Amino acid sequence: MYDVVKDYYGKQLQSSADLKTSACCDVSSMPEWLKPLLTRIHPEVLARYYGCGLVAPAALDGCTILDLGCGTGRDVYALAQMVGAHGRIIGLDMTEQQLAVAEQHKTWHATQFGYDNVQFVQGYMEQLDQLDLAPGSVDVIVSNCVLNLSPDKASVLKGIFRLLKPGGEFYFSDVYADRRVPDAVKNDPELYGECLGGALYWNDFQHMARRAGFTDPRLVEDRPLTMTDPAIAARIGPVHFYSATYRLFKLDGLEPDCEDYGQAVIYKGTLSNAPDRFVLDKHHDIETGRVFPVCGNTWRMLHDTRFAAHFEFIGDFSKHFGLFEGCGGGLPFDITASGNASAACC
Ligand SMILES: C[S@@+](CC[C@H](N)C(=O)[O-])C[C@H]1O[C@@H](n2cnc3c(N)ncnc32)[C@H](O)[C@@H]1O
Repeated sequence: MYDVVKDYYGKQLQSSADLKTSACCDVSSMPEWLKPLLTRIHPEVLARYYGCGLVAPAALDGCTILDLGCGTGRDVYALAQMVGAHGRIIGLDMTEQQLAVAEQHKTWHATQFGYDNVQFVQGYMEQLDQLDLAPGSVDVIVSNCVLNLSPDKASVLKGIFRLLKPGGEFYFSDVYADRRVPDAVKNDPELYGECLGGALYWNDFQHMARRAGFTDPRLVEDRPLTMTDPAIAARIGPVHFYSATYRLFKLDGLEPDCEDYGQAVIYKGTLSNAPDRFVLDKHHDIETGRVFPVCGNTWRMLHDTRFAAHFEFIGDFSKHFGLFEGCGGGLPFDITASGNASAACC
């Protein structure tokens, strides 16, 4: 499938408008704080954006980030501004033509930002051990609509786990199906290129993530995809596809279920762009100053990561009260776009 994908992104697509699904969404639904960052990105890079979500987690100042399947670099150049002059971002992609556009505008962006903290590398995300990066050296790995294109997703997740620092995270948007995709869809080159054929059934993804060491995958946001091309809609049949953003923390001590130790956190409101609330995931929208009860896993995701300085922590692990109420079960995605409180956007 590598050649099919290289051909699709390197030769067939010329701009986001050539895509045949609503995977790539409207700039107007993007958070206000992100818009000025995008105005400092070259128009050709913006025009060739093929992502399906927002991969801009909080607290990135000074971080080392790796973007898998960076394409022409829209997210790389946005994140370069978020990590700042002391941070570093590496964009990896296998398609020469995509990287050529990204590289072509590197100096232009360095002039815009006042520093050059960006590097692009040609390679395969299934071979992360070939990169000049030490195990446990990367703070955050991002990816936007790429994992579905991999013929060996389990290897990609294992490679990511190896590269992340303890407490680091894989924060990524991708396409998922509500069931295992039939072979006719999987083997259709156009559907594969459109990020549908290779999409994982969401529950298979969650098991795969756990097997790679990411014990508690957290869904951040999601939206159903609409097939804007009737011919494509006819070929995919009854399968429903979703764009979803997950965050996977590399943390020792995470448990298979959300366990209740009577703990709570208080968000200090100190993260830039988030004075009123911190959204960890779809189920944890934590208002500033409020005592917010959390399970042991959520505690660790805040206490043992780059977010720790922004929280007060109440309690410890000395007493167990059973399972944390209301966790898990069923399709995690909203089936209508309007049902989604924080509409996913890119
Ligand atoms: C849907 S596009 C997304 C590009 C970019 N993330 C964006 O948001 O514009 C998928 C990209 O992933 C790259 N890609 C697909 N499979 C890959 C692999 N196995 N290793 C590295 N890059 C890959 C493609 O070359 C393409 O540029």
